[in-house]
Amino acid sequence: MAILEIKRYPERILKQKTAPVGTINGATQKLIDDMVDTMHAARGVGLAANQVGIPQKLCVIDLSLRGEKAPLIVLINPIILEREGVIEAEEGCLSIPGYLTAVKRAERVFVKGLNREGKEISIEGEGLLARAIQHELDHLDGLLLIDRISPLKREFFKRRYKKQMQHSKSET
Ligand code: NI
Repeated sequence: MAILEIKRYPERILKQKTAPVGTINGATQKLIDDMVDTMHAARGVGLAANQVGIPQKLCVIDLSLRGEKAPLIVLINPIILEREGVIEAEEGCLSIPGYLTAVKRAERVFVKGLNREGKEISIEGEGLLARAIQHELDHLDGLLLIDRISPLKREFFKRRYKKQMQHSKSET
């Protein structure tokens, strides 16, 4: 069990596409366990491997914190095969603490990947699950939620964020 450091915007690894996981071995199992612990400690509902500095196509999702009856999901090398509908809702990210913004996502998705045992799984998700899947898969492609908002909103975010950074620098 270990709590890993969560990389924060604008760290470069968050902008990089991850590489598919080749062999699922002991190191992969340990990474999954550590990612689950880290996600729970941060009270997040999802975490992608590159958020903890490992550029591999692997993410974990657990909606039980939001009161949803959902099992822990481990997705290795996931791909979205189908998307349906569009819905906008507020979203946050552990790599951009304190920032919430409305993001348009598909309402339902059908995703395929491997579970932690390397077995092929498919998940049909809607609502919060569909949103979490798309958010985490975006991470694995090097995309953050700020890449999914309008350029104007993104500018506002960047300006505000820079100010916050200067602020925290002068405080320490
Ligand atoms: Ni995120």
